[in-house]
Amino acid sequence: KEAKLWGGRFEDSVTDAVERFSESVSFDKALYKQDIMGSRAHARMLAHQGLMTVSDRDSILHGLDEIERRIEAGEFVWRMDREDVHMNIEAALTDMIGEPAKKLHTARSRNDQVVTDLRLWCREAIDKIVASIKQLQVALIKLGLNNEGLIVPGYTHLQRAQPVLLQHLLLSYVEQLERDVGRLVDCKDRMNFCPLGACALAGTGLPIDRFLTSDALGFTAPMRNSIDAVSDRDFVLEFLSANSITAVHLSRLGEEWVLWASEEFGFLTPSDSVSTGSSIMPQKKNPDPMELVRGKSARVVGDLMTLLVLCKGLPQAYNRDLQEDKEPLFDSVKTVLGMLEVTTEFAQNIAFNHARIQKVLPAGHLDATTLADYLVNKGMPFRTSHEIVGRCVALCVTKNCQLSELPLDQLQGINSIFKEDVYDFLGVENSVDKFSSYGSTGSECVAEQLNFWISKLQID
Ligand code: ARG
Repeated sequence: KEAKLWGGRFEDSVTDAVERFSESVSFDKALYKQDIMGSRAHARMLAHQGLMTVSDRDSILHGLDEIERRIEAGEFVWRMDREDVHMNIEAALTDMIGEPAKKLHTARSRNDQVVTDLRLWCREAIDKIVASIKQLQVALIKLGLNNEGLIVPGYTHLQRAQPVLLQHLLLSYVEQLERDVGRLVDCKDRMNFCPLGACALAGTGLPIDRFLTSDALGFTAPMRNSIDAVSDRDFVLEFLSANSITAVHLSRLGEEWVLWASEEFGFLTPSDSVSTGSSIMPQKKNPDPMELVRGKSARVVGDLMTLLVLCKGLPQAYNRDLQEDKEPLFDSVKTVLGMLEVTTEFAQNIAFNHARIQKVLPAGHLDATTLADYLVNKGMPFRTSHEIVGRCVALCVTKNCQLSELPLDQLQGINSIFKEDVYDFLGVENSVDKFSSYGSTGSECVAEQLNFWISKLQID
C-alpha cells in the first residue's frame, strides 16, 4: 500500500472499509479543472513570493498541463486510496515530476483548496444555468408570438376567473424566470471571493500574497477572514436555494401543461417527439417530460434540504462532513439543467388547440368582472355592482346561458342602469379588450410587455 500524504505520524494504514467510506474521488473528480486552475495560480504566487523557484514553478505548470491532458483523454488513473481529487492530482504530479511537486502544497490546505475549487465550479455552473434559463424564456416568447391573439381562460382556485391572452400567461413565466436569473447572478457576485490562502483555518506565517491568487482566479477579492473562508458553504446553500425556486417554477409550468394536455382541458397537444406512450394502453400519449420536470423538482428541493441539514450542526472551520456538500450540489445543477433543457424543447413542440379553446371559452362567465366594471363606469359603487352582476350570473345559471345572451329587458329587470352599450362589455373578446391597467392582459398592455422582452432577449 502507498503511504498516505500525511503518513509521517501514522503507523498503521486505514482499513479497507474506512478507505471506501471516506473516499470522495469517485465524485469530486468533477472538480479536476478547478483544482488544476487553483494549483496553477497558487504555484505562480509561490514563485512570485520567493517561496519556490521559477524552475520548480515551471515543472509544476508543465506537470499540471500534462495531468489535465491525461484526465481529458481518459488516460488518468483515479485512485481511491488517494482519497480525493486534490490528493490524486498532487500525488500524480509527484509521480511525474518528483521533488518540485512537494512544494505545491506550501501555505495551502485541502480545506482552502476544496472550497476554492467549489466556488470556481459554482461560478461556471451558474453561468450555464443562466444561459439555459434565457433559452427557455426565448422559447416561451416565441410560443406566444406563434399564438398571437389567443384568449384562454384565466383560473384562480383552478376555477374559471377572467379571460387572459395566452401571451400574457406565458410572459408571467418569463418574469418568474428573470427573477431566477437575478437570484443566481446575486449569488454568484456574493460567492466570488477567494478562500485560497486561508490554509487550514488560521492563515499562514509564510509570505504569501492572497490578492495575487484571488486576481489570477478572477475573484473580486480574497475573503477577509480565514476561518470563515474554510467554514461556510452558504454560497452552495444560496445556489441550491435559487435552483430550488427555479425548479418549483418549472414544476408549476409542468403541472399546468400536464393539465392542459388532458382530455378534460384539451388546450394543448405535445408533438410525438416530446411524448411517450403506454406499454399496455395503445391509445395513450403522455406528456411525460413535463411530469418529470414536476417530479425532478423534488430532487432539487431535496438537495437543498440535504445541505441545510449537513451544515446546521457544524462547529466553525472545516469539518469532514463538508465533503458531503458535493453530491447534492452536482445533482442539483445537473437536474435543473436537464429540467430547463426539456422544458424548452417541450415549449418548442406543443400546439395550442385554438378551436377547442374557443369552443369552451364562453363557459364560466369570464366576463362577469368586466360587467361589474361597466356599472362602476356608470357611477355605481363597486360593491353594489358586484351584487347586481351576481344576480345576472344567477339568472344565467337558471337559464343556462351566457351573460351576453341575456336580452336587455331582462338585464334592465335586474337594474335599470343597463343600456344597449352593455353588449360592448360582454363576451370574452370584449372583456379582454377592456383591460387597460399597467401590466394587465389587455392587448396593448401585453404588446408592451412583449416588446420589452423581445428587445431585452434580442429575439428577431
Ligand atoms: N475531500 C475533502 C472534502 O471534499 C477535502 C478536504 C479534506 N480536508 C481534510 N482536512 N480532511 O471536503
